[in-house]
Amino acid sequence: MRFFATLLGFYGATVSVVGQFAPVVTETGVSAHPFDINQVSLTSSRFMANQNRTLSYLKFVDTNRLLYNFRLNHKLSTNGATANGGWDAPTFPFRTHMQGHFLTAWAQCYAQLGDTTCRDRATSFVAELLKCQNNNAAAGFATGYLSGFPESEFTKLESGTLTSGNVPYYAIHKTLAGLLDVYRWIGDANAKTVLLAFAGWVDTRTAKLSYDQMQKVMQTEFGGMNEVLADIYHQTGDKKWLNVAQRFDHAAIFDPLASNQDQLNGLHANTQVPKWIGAAREYKATGITKYRDIAKNAWAYTINAHTYAIGGNSQAEHFRAPNAISTFLTNDTAEGCNTYNMLKLTRELFTMNPTDASYFDFYERALINHMLGQQNPATDHGHITYFTSLNAGGHRGLGPAWGGGTWSTDYDSHWCCQGTGLETNTKMQDSIYFYDDSSLYVNLFTPSKLNWKARSVTITQSTTFPASDTTTLTVSGSGSWAMKIRIPSWTSGATIAVNGATQSITATPGSYATLSRSWTSEDVVTIKLPMKLRVVPANDNKAVAALAFGPTVLCGNYGSSTLSANPKLDLASVKRSGTSGLTFTGTADGKSVNIGPFYEAQGFNYAVYWAVSGTLPA
Ligand SMILES: *[C@@H]1O[C@H](CO)[C@@H](O)[C@H](O)[C@H]1NC(C)=O
Ligand SMILES: *[C@@H]1O[C@H](CO)[C@@H](O)[C@H](O)[C@H]1NC(C)=O
Repeated sequence: MRFFATLLGFYGATVSVVGQFAPVVTETGVSAHPFDINQVSLTSSRFMANQNRTLSYLKFVDTNRLLYNFRLNHKLSTNGATANGGWDAPTFPFRTHMQGHFLTAWAQCYAQLGDTTCRDRATSFVAELLKCQNNNAAAGFATGYLSGFPESEFTKLESGTLTSGNVPYYAIHKTLAGLLDVYRWIGDANAKTVLLAFAGWVDTRTAKLSYDQMQKVMQTEFGGMNEVLADIYHQTGDKKWLNVAQRFDHAAIFDPLASNQDQLNGLHANTQVPKWIGAAREYKATGITKYRDIAKNAWAYTINAHTYAIGGNSQAEHFRAPNAISTFLTNDTAEGCNTYNMLKLTRELFTMNPTDASYFDFYERALINHMLGQQNPATDHGHITYFTSLNAGGHRGLGPAWGGGTWSTDYDSHWCCQGTGLETNTKMQDSIYFYDDSSLYVNLFTPSKLNWKARSVTITQSTTFPASDTTTLTVSGSGSWAMKIRIPSWTSGATIAVNGATQSITATPGSYATLSRSWTSEDVVTIKLPMKLRVVPANDNKAVAALAFGPTVLCGNYGSSTLSANPKLDLASVKRSGTSGLTFTGTADGKSVNIGPFYEAQGFNYAVYWAVSGTLPA
């Protein structure tokens, strides 16, 4: 346990919240580490603006409405609250999948920002969940169960008679993960009690099933059950939870990946990604290399053969044949949750192999081009879109009806992607920096402050990246260590200067540049990563391509015009408007079109993919 007196200040002793809890198990196979989320904070930027909007929603939402289904199911009064609509309506099969995401987001906001409103919302919500769980005898449920739908859904799942469309383990995975975050980031004792009782219920339930029965149960989407149970093991050191985690090893998915086969075609995409994150967590718990191979292969296959230019994957929620990109540019591409999960997987893999820059090349690409613009900047509640359409004339927030159709709403959507969106937009800072025994990794170029407590060093990063190609890091404190700076694969001619003097160190694109130094307070590191226009062809058809400038995918602004095919873009016509910024023009279908960053494409019809001809200007 670590006790952060600074966050609690003078009144620390009087509140029941006592601090944060570090995991007790040392991870295997890991050579770099993330910082605790309270050591890094954002400074002003689009990333912070997104966080602010989500934060205002987290503080606004009526928690009695979020408790409605839990209380109803556990036979407690709903206190006159109004029921939610959408995926949290009282008749929706996997209602209460959403609340765990709120718990995680509140916990992240407290850990990062010291926001006591979020802390108090999290701890009082958990206190209410404890009351629900404690009423199980009266509700007719076994000890530890906690959900907005009856326990009999699991009986049906186990006997193969589940017809409600429910994905019961998927839903409860979110609750378990949320409780774990309230426990580890806030230190709330109730969260630990409810979590371990609920995990104990999972143990009892699954211990009764044979291996074959369990494999059948896993044909229904189950989220990251292996992940959260492995995390509970990491957190508590109790091997029992590792054993329960391994019951959720889904052989039909794991075995082909372990033997180097991409059999993803046709699978529901977001059902699989959390299992791979779980495999990485299980590798770090056991050292069994099969788990590592599953996670690494799954990542490589997905990124190299199933991912669009913006870093998202899936069409109509499914993986298609390897490299089938140009033939699947529809209005239901790139489900948000998949990218949220791929980013989590990327972090896991990076810590195992921090010399491989491809991990954070992907992270940057997906964060900027998919996640950042998935949120609507026009309202202050951080609403999101489920799919990010990549058809010609696509429009964020106007997807097909079955995928939401609009931006999310305060109470009547509660889709999966709205839940993961709450998490994404309250941890925009969590992967900028990593560390090992002798170095600091600078992975992302995001305005931020790092408080590297172990070395009594603070780093302030200032930039308007990706609009600008330059970032500066001011180091306060001293000591000898190396700054390892990711040199993105999209740049050429990168330079690194200290206090104005260019350093003669290798800065090869797609690698880490190592700046070893005995630091003096207020040393200023200036990193310049020259950007140029690039074409990002579809894997299966080089004549269909997206356009990017440095890391930023660009798109054509088509206002309210509809398009029936990818516009024909004459590459030679593309021109930057001025010498800075991300606005361009070009000629497509014989007409001039304004071109700008896709992360800012909200409120109009756009084209991300073009039918390209010619070559870019030199
Ligand atoms: C975010 O909110 C904080 C606190 O209200 C404010 O100081 C900051 O300017 C906001 N930043 C952005 C980018 O909106
Ligand atoms: C999405 O595309 C399908 C298939 O082309 C079409 O039927 C549907 O109307 C589109 N939905 C929207 C909201 O554009």
